[in-house]
Amino acid sequence: MSKPDATPDAATDARRAAELRRAIAHHDWRYHVLDRPEIADVEYDRLVRELQAIEARRPELVTPDSPTQRVSGQPREGFATVAHDPPLLSLDNSFDEKELREWHARLLSHLGVETLPGDLVVEPKFDGLSCKLLFEEGRLVVGATRGSGSEGEDVTANVRTIRSIPLALRGDVPRRLDVRGEVVIRRDHFEKFNAELLARGEETYANPRNLAAGTLRQLDARITAARPLEFYAYALGRVEGGPPLTSHSQALEWLEGLGLKTPRPFSKKGDLEAVLARYRELEAGRDAFPIELDGVVVKVDDLALQARLGFRSKSPRWAQAFKFAARQATTRIAEITIQVGRNGTLTPVARLEPVALAGVTITNATLHNQDEIARLGVKIGDTVLIQRAGDVIPKVVQVIESKRTGAESDFTFPTACPACGTPVVKEADLVALRCPNERCPARVKRRIEHFVARGAMDVEGLGEKLIGQLVDGGIVKSPADLYGLTRDVLVDLERMGEKSAANVLANLEASKTRPFANFLFALGVPEIGEAAAEAIAHPFGTLEALREATVESVRSIHGIGPRAAESLVGFLQSDAGRALLDELARRGVAPRRVERGQGRLEGKTFLFTGTLGKLTRAEAESRVKSQGGSLLSGVSARLSYLVVGEKPGSKLKKAQELKVAVLDETQFLELLEKGPAP
Ligand code: IVH
Repeated sequence: MSKPDATPDAATDARRAAELRRAIAHHDWRYHVLDRPEIADVEYDRLVRELQAIEARRPELVTPDSPTQRVSGQPREGFATVAHDPPLLSLDNSFDEKELREWHARLLSHLGVETLPGDLVVEPKFDGLSCKLLFEEGRLVVGATRGSGSEGEDVTANVRTIRSIPLALRGDVPRRLDVRGEVVIRRDHFEKFNAELLARGEETYANPRNLAAGTLRQLDARITAARPLEFYAYALGRVEGGPPLTSHSQALEWLEGLGLKTPRPFSKKGDLEAVLARYRELEAGRDAFPIELDGVVVKVDDLALQARLGFRSKSPRWAQAFKFAARQATTRIAEITIQVGRNGTLTPVARLEPVALAGVTITNATLHNQDEIARLGVKIGDTVLIQRAGDVIPKVVQVIESKRTGAESDFTFPTACPACGTPVVKEADLVALRCPNERCPARVKRRIEHFVARGAMDVEGLGEKLIGQLVDGGIVKSPADLYGLTRDVLVDLERMGEKSAANVLANLEASKTRPFANFLFALGVPEIGEAAAEAIAHPFGTLEALREATVESVRSIHGIGPRAAESLVGFLQSDAGRALLDELARRGVAPRRVERGQGRLEGKTFLFTGTLGKLTRAEAESRVKSQGGSLLSGVSARLSYLVVGEKPGSKLKKAQELKVAVLDETQFLELLEKGPAP
């Protein structure tokens, strides 16, 4: 045996270096392409360090495709131009179902057939940067942006830093492979990166695509390497010496075998109806998808059919992009106003020239606080980029400075509350300005709105307009006053009939025994959101027990930090807090104790689809939670029950495929009554 510090001979080093390169490339592939690592990060790092050590003492052993050579040392002056031959085409777009059906009809008429002889494939359309890679004898030699389509920029050094792109292909490699795909950055990485920029006071990126593009076009590849880009291959270019291929899906499968990531795991094959179903599914799941998508791409799977269909000047006839509704749009800020929150926080809101976005007309967007206004540099009259995702309040992302006319004006934050005139205060460690007046009518309205909201006391029929009338009329000053409302008072209000008044009163009555967690959340104590209320409600069980709580006892609950604990105990011991709780109790509000661990639905998971008849979605979900069950956001093998109402979505089909138990509303109500069969 050799001594531990003896340097191995050249032949041993060469053998070991080759072995390590193979092992590291293998683990890169497992981790970055398959998302299924086989070894821990520390072990991986050990392999890399060992290879680095060998290459350091024997530089002649370094190969261009060594995993240590992903990042090149020197920043460059600019990018060389790469000609694309054949040019990289673009896709024609459909914006609605009708347009996609028209495209399909054109396919059929072009082929002179009644039905398509073969499948369509539908894939996610990644919203990133289109690129081409060239592999010769299996080695990555060029990476280029799409650019104009006929020529792009040579970004090889940057592309080499992308870990889901192999520097050397696996298995039986073709002589030449041109592959097209999308360079993207995952949404969570984008958010994290933007948060870091923000913390450093630097300008943020408007969306993941801009960040991916900005990253890929860095002259210093070390910067690219530090940001986790990914590459999805979605089309072949020129191939020499590859296997015979008959379909697009087969081509992607081949690319996967060579070590590339493709959209295939998320794609579906079938007829036009199957394509439309998958489109709806991906659109509905858009927010849960890790990568920003801007639609789907529909392709004719059969390559012989593709060849018969051919191309138009800029796009293939055999493929079509079917876009989702856009999430960003530009519009003008007509005015900036201040909204007063239930805890007094003053939030600036941009009043916008109405603009259609993701299916709704947007007229307002939040500007968060004065720091955000300063960061964005936004002025009244500015043209801005706004964004809306899911149910999230639209926000202003960026000022389009090129649209400035000089007529814009600065916004100055008020020094007094716009609702009650009380001078605003700035709390030491908080960014926001606050109205300190507990009786401020704006604050009272927001507090009541929160109190009756879903997930809180869930009182249907008590909307913003009605609450506005009740507060402005001096009828309701605190949530407790709601329980003193009478028919006579209600029917006198605008747009209130006998029937709606009776409804509101019945709903208020029913809310008196909501689960304790809902009640706690409804109080609107700063820092006590839905999850915190849930966590606190169980160990304390009742309001009486909670009223005796100390900061220490609340803090000892898993998931509750010191700020939340102090805020809650501060509220419980304050005069105002005590008075409110006493008054609510006096009016008969008696939140229900819900034991966790004793719930009939303990360990069971639920998901709802379609409209229920007897219960609202919020009620149904709260009943599940109150019996110890939990909710899932998608169908998976972990789901115990899918509860199906009217017009169920695609979830039903998936649940059936996965053999998940499906309940209708009656069966669900029975389950709540009796618990699951043993
Ligand atoms: S196929 C010749 N498939 O969308 C056909 N494109 O709007 C080449 N894109 O330039 C395109 N995901 O950058 C295809 N699964 C996918 C895609 C995709 C994103 C991009 C691509 C293209 C653009 C057209």
